[in-house]
Amino acid sequence: MSFLLRTATALLASCAAVVSAVNPIEVRSQNFVDARTNERLMIIGVDYQPGGQGGYKPQEGQDALTNGTVCLRDAALMQRLGVNTIRVYNVDPTLSHDECASIFNAVGIYMIIDVNSPFGGESLDRSNPSGSYTLGYLERTFRVVENFKNYPNTLGFFSANEVMNDVGTSSDNPPYIRAIQRDLKRYIAAHADRTIPVGYSAADVREILADQWNYFQCAISGERADSRSDFFGLNSYSWCGGDATFQTAGYNVLVELFGNTTVPVFFSEYGCNEVQPRVFEEVQALYGPEMSVMSGGLVYEYSQEESDYGLVVVNADGTIRLRQDFGNLQDQLNRINITLAQAANSTATALTPPVCDESLITFPQFSKSFDIPDAPEGLDDVISNGVRDAVQGSIVDVTARRVPMAVLDVNGASIDGLEIVPVPQGESNTPSGENTGGDASGTATEAAPSATSSAAAVENGVRAGFLGVALGLAAAVVV
Ligand SMILES: *[C@@H]1O[C@H](CO)[C@@H](O)[C@H](O)[C@H]1NC(C)=O
Ligand SMILES: *[C@@H]1O[C@H](CO)[C@@H](O)[C@H](O)[C@H]1NC(C)=O
Ligand SMILES: *[C@@H]1O[C@H](CO)[C@@H](O)[C@H](O)[C@H]1NC(C)=O
Ligand SMILES: *[C@@H]1O[C@H](CO)[C@@H](O)[C@H](O)[C@H]1NC(C)=O
Repeated sequence: MSFLLRTATALLASCAAVVSAVNPIEVRSQNFVDARTNERLMIIGVDYQPGGQGGYKPQEGQDALTNGTVCLRDAALMQRLGVNTIRVYNVDPTLSHDECASIFNAVGIYMIIDVNSPFGGESLDRSNPSGSYTLGYLERTFRVVENFKNYPNTLGFFSANEVMNDVGTSSDNPPYIRAIQRDLKRYIAAHADRTIPVGYSAADVREILADQWNYFQCAISGERADSRSDFFGLNSYSWCGGDATFQTAGYNVLVELFGNTTVPVFFSEYGCNEVQPRVFEEVQALYGPEMSVMSGGLVYEYSQEESDYGLVVVNADGTIRLRQDFGNLQDQLNRINITLAQAANSTATALTPPVCDESLITFPQFSKSFDIPDAPEGLDDVISNGVRDAVQGSIVDVTARRVPMAVLDVNGASIDGLEIVPVPQGESNTPSGENTGGDASGTATEAAPSATSSAAAVENGVRAGFLGVALGLAAAVVV
């Protein structure tokens, strides 16, 4: 089918099924672009893995996108926060994600989905890439594609995350990641109604950062099925606390490095937690004119887990209390000039990708091989016929709007009337200009960057674990 015909078919299908939907996103040179309005999309996102890696429980039929009530709660809060994208790390492609995907779609929030999981056989093993690049593994990644390809708010797929986590892991793995990307892109071309971008999420190992980016953005001439990345995500934690600057955080180095990127580059994780509560001043740099070469980023992470990066505390009974970080981030997002950030596309020149060649690679140990491994035997059949027994998702009507569980703000006061507000057809969510993290009425107030002493005590308690929850509830009663 021609691209136009496929697009038209997809349009008709989506019009029949839903009241409103976000527009699909395409990659055009170094930008994410709304395929219908041609406007640039700046990713304003959060990483979403409630329960941490442990929240992925396929044996119990659960992952981060299986409980509609939980998604309703979190989508309502994220909508107020002002984000337009989530990243979800681990999904089980045998489960239905229709309710959650439809809720996020309704509020104008895109999803970037990792095709892997922490379980054996469900990701590339960095210590044994050739042994773990198997037909069974690839079939699972295709099931993830089948599961998410029909949602208009699926922005892209991560082929892998931080496989190269030090210089030692950079010699054998890169060709395998390109192989996985080639296979995913072939599968998407054969079985999805639109082109869904595929890219890599890199660890910020500075010695090999330029090599990673170049290795994945370069074009192999004459390649039959393109293994290059459509985008490059960087997990970056170099801006720590309110005293950091563009220079001390090394953002100047990133801008110089990515200045002539030929694929969109964004932070797939950011938000150093060495100074707490986090004040997120890097937001003004990231979305400001100096960094317009980048396409935004996703804050790590929505929920408070063992690693201590949460914007909210999710209690065992499903109730929530916002942390100071939520209000602080909301204030920063409210200050972004979206018009300015998204207009930056008009002056950008589309660049031709560099041709893959060992001269692009500078670190001695990093792979200089662009000899991409052949696909495992049997893969061609799977790509032609489609993967067996795939569970295909589709958008469903979103009927419930009101969040049923209690949500407390940072001061412990109940946020009443919390609900999702569907955005108009074709629009994505934007920061509202209001601070709702520290004020129950939802009117614009400055969340005090220095928390009140009781809130600070709660924060400290939370870091200590369960005690924090008790303190938070006690504070709610007192306030
Ligand atoms: C930039 O966005 C405008 C709409 O705001 C659009 O008309 C234009 O085509 C876009 N440019 C590129 C290079 O995508
Ligand atoms: C969804 O999550 C809520 C809140 O944690 C819980 O009460 C409910 O039982 C869950 N629903 C299912 C079907 O697991
Ligand atoms: C945002 O940027 C645009 C384009 O430069 C400008 O016209 C507008 O005044 C800015 N808005 C604010 C609130 O500063
Ligand atoms: C990007 O800039 C670097 C340094 O200026 C240069 O070596 C490289 O060839 C450029 N790449 C492209 C694709 O233009």
